[in-house]
Parts: sequence; C-alpha cells; structure tokens
Amino acid sequence: MDLHEAIKGRKSCRAFLGRPVPDEALQRVLNAARLAVSVENQQPWRFIVVRDEEKKRKLSQAVTKGNFLNSAPLVIVALGMEEASPALVGGYMLSYPLDVAASIQNFLLAATADGLGTCWCTDFKEDRIKELFGIPEGTRVVGVLPLGYPDPSNNGAHNGDGGRRSFSEIVAYDNFAW
Ligand SMILES: Cc1cc2nc3c(=O)[nH]c(=O)nc-3n(C[C@H](O)[C@H](O)[C@H](O)COP(=O)(O)O)c2cc1C
Repeated sequence: MDLHEAIKGRKSCRAFLGRPVPDEALQRVLNAARLAVSVENQQPWRFIVVRDEEKKRKLSQAVTKGNFLNSAPLVIVALGMEEASPALVGGYMLSYPLDVAASIQNFLLAATADGLGTCWCTDFKEDRIKELFGIPEGTRVVGVLPLGYPDPSNNGAHNGDGGRRSFSEIVAYDNFAW
C-alpha cells in the first residue's frame, strides 16, 4: 500500500475479528516502530506484546472503556524509557514521549498497510499496568495498542477525512496568523 493511502485509510479500530495476526505481519509492524526517528537516535521505546488471555483481560480493565481490547488477538504496551532520555525539547520538555509517539505512529501506519487495525489508547491507569507486567521505575507507559483484523460490521467508517481541521485552520505562512 502506498504511504498516502495508509495515512488516509488509517482510523482507530475498536472491534476486531478473531483471526490471529501472523507472526510476519507482527514483525513488520514492530519493525516499522523500531525504525522511527528519535532524539540523538536514543530509541527510548520498548514494546511488550501481550497474547496471554488472562493478562489481556487484566490489561483491558486498566484502560477506560477498554473492554474492546479483549476482541484483539494481541495487545501491545508501548513504553518510554524516561531515565534514558534526559534531552529537553526547546529547553522545557523531555524528549521520550515524542520519540515513542513517532514510533507508535509508524506502527499505526504499518498496521494499516498490512490490513490490520489498531487504536492508540492512553486513557489508562499506569500504576495497574506497571504492576501487571513488572515495569520498573523510570519506564513509563505511553500507549496501549490492540492489534488485529478490523471487524467491518462494528467499526464506523470515517466520513471524508475523519473530521480533520481544514488547511487554513492549521497552516500559516511566514507568521503566526490565527
Ligand atoms: C495520544 C492518543 C491517545 C488516544 N487515547 C485513546 C483512548 O484512550 N481510547 C480510545 O478509544 N481512543 C484513543 N485515541 C484515539 C482517538 O480518539 C482517535 O485517534 C481520534 O478520535 C481520531 O480518530 P481516528 O484515529 O479514527 O482518525 C487516542 C489517540 C491518540 C493520538
């Protein structure tokens, strides 16, 4: 699939078919995440692939309205290594959330290109997820990402470009013009 088709075709998926994700497809989307840009190439991301049904169930309970995660054959917990990421963005922001976000966006687009659906979830109880997987201090949960084949009968279609703002609302030339 062409990159622009994947960008336009991606949408959050909240219902999945029971069909398993082939290992090669999983490797492809994780590899896309691995190849993302990061500050000083620090790559402060880690991914836990959750296939165990009981762990998936407990994980879904740590996510607000997370019951739909149980319909996905696997769920990925995306982590950021806070300790390994001292760099400040513009002198005011730690860089690791941006790096992990870039990696997750690669993941979302690669999944789309493979015909897979996913949904970046951040409305979770981090302490419960850290306890469930033994995630140490200094490592933060940045996203919970179910992965599977979308159930076409239970996922609403995007209208047009998905309710995005128009160009003039977000782009200005030579000045801050809003
Ligand atoms: C950082 C981030 C956090 C999000 N958190 C959640 C979430 O906790 N639960 C959820 O169902 N969707 C979540 N979403 C999905 C957004 O609701 C969705 O991307 C947005 O409504 C646009 O829809 P689309 O992804 O279908 O284009 C999140 C998206 C982003 C980028």
